[in-house]
Amino acid sequence: MSAAACGRTAPPPARRRRAWWRRATGAGGRRRHAAARDPRPAGAGEAQYAIFCTPCHGAAGAGDGMIVRHGFPAPPSYHTARLRAAPARHFYDVIGDGYGIMYGYGDRLAPPDRWAVVAYIRALQLSRLPRAAEAAP
Ligand code: HEC
Repeated sequence: MSAAACGRTAPPPARRRRAWWRRATGAGGRRRHAAARDPRPAGAGEAQYAIFCTPCHGAAGAGDGMIVRHGFPAPPSYHTARLRAAPARHFYDVIGDGYGIMYGYGDRLAPPDRWAVVAYIRALQLSRLPRAAEAAP
């Protein structure tokens, strides 16, 4: 998602949010992503994350993506204690089924792709943990 794709869109009134979401993310529509027919290796998680999650969750998972900066409700950071402790299955389920106001991506990300994105989120979480060397005096 480029800045230009959603950058000029004002936050929609609640009644138009579903259409706005679909336009901005492609989620919830009928079109199927090619990945659903062509599962990729785990390394694809980063690319899938960049396409489907970065617009809201941000590249580092802090919950500060472009759509959020333009008024969409902010998701929680992946770097909270709660989401660090959450089992991988929770992320998998959120991706497939959605969570709260977030629509699911079950129609666009096949199970192997969902797991690949989960693995990438875990990598993001690990990248934020304080390193022993940094914590040492
Ligand atoms: C259009 C914005 C948007 C996109 C795109 C999006 N999310 Fe979310 N996500 C949200 C919002 C908003 C919430 C908070 C929902 C709530 O609490 O009602 C959320 C919540 C979450 C949570 C936290 C659930 C919890 O236990 O609090 C996870 C994990 C998550 N999203 C993963 C993903 C992944 C992975 C992707 C990409 C496949 C993705 N999201 C794409 C907006 C988005």
